[in-house]
Amino acid sequence: MSNTNNENITSQLHTIADYCRYGASLFNQAELFYGHGTDNALSEAFTLVMFAVALPEEMGEQVMSCRLLEHEKQNILTLFAERIETQKPVAYITNLAYFAQLPFYVDERVLVPRSPIGELIENHFAPYFSEEQPPQHILDLCTGSGCIAIACASYFPEAEVDAVDLSIDALNVAQMNIENHGLSEQVIPIQSDVFSGVEGQKYDLIVTNPPYVDQEDIDSLPAEFTHEPEMGLGCGADGLDIVRVILAESAQHLNDEGILICEVGNSQYHVEALYPEVDFTWLSFERGGHGVFMLNKAQLEQHKQLFAAALVV
Ligand SMILES: C[S@@+](CC[C@H](N)C(=O)[O-])C[C@H]1O[C@@H](n2cnc3c(N)ncnc32)[C@H](O)[C@@H]1O
Repeated sequence: MSNTNNENITSQLHTIADYCRYGASLFNQAELFYGHGTDNALSEAFTLVMFAVALPEEMGEQVMSCRLLEHEKQNILTLFAERIETQKPVAYITNLAYFAQLPFYVDERVLVPRSPIGELIENHFAPYFSEEQPPQHILDLCTGSGCIAIACASYFPEAEVDAVDLSIDALNVAQMNIENHGLSEQVIPIQSDVFSGVEGQKYDLIVTNPPYVDQEDIDSLPAEFTHEPEMGLGCGADGLDIVRVILAESAQHLNDEGILICEVGNSQYHVEALYPEVDFTWLSFERGGHGVFMLNKAQLEQHKQLFAAALVV
């Protein structure tokens, strides 16, 4: 947007509501993709406007009709232009994403947190755990920003949580989030290729949002996803390279009553085709999301040979 054009805009638009509406129109005209924590143009414009004026989003209702200063308007227009020209997800522009009602620092070293597993954590993984018997030892496999590990530690303050990732870049971001949340005593970041760094450890809960996007979906992802780390998304032709390892090796890392909760998104289709004998419990979500299964240790043991055989393809 040129300076003259900007002046023309800022002389006609004045309130926070004006800029939210204008941003939403621009984003829709640019045919942006919304799927990194929001699902519509107006929410994205609102987030950027509130970020530009350094106000928490919760204040939105109270300040919608407030007028903006010229420099605030210019900052907002710059942010709108960045969103459109780079097609970066909003969370990478603001370096902030919310997960399970908690704030996380994010940048392009980690995926933008958006897993429906957040809803399970907020519900304390009911009915699989109860207030009387919460998980004591939790493993977040493929932790990225650390969002699942940190949210688990926050909702289960007595639990010890290991946060595992192969990427040092991701672990550096996770470490920052662990410190920001004051959880250095409770959440331990570990570099590990799936289970390699937690040998001999046993958990009550293994929870994971691994890379699982199949090649067909990778080839058709909107531009916004190209800003995310490649190793956080794709995982072989059917997306299941790491999920196969998780299924084959989880049992030996679970206590007797332990469970595995694993997200596979659209690759649910491939999971069901690969393991037709297995009675996966596919979880449902009030706030949207799909492709998350639960298996208990007994089921993982029961199908041990099948899971091992699927490793050798
Ligand atoms: C889908 S992202 C999930 C990040 C985070 N848990 C979330 O929900 O936002 C998957 C993560 O798995 C990590 N990863 C990829 N291959 C891995 C491997 N072999 N072992 C451990 N982590 C791996 C990536 O670095 C990435 O951070």
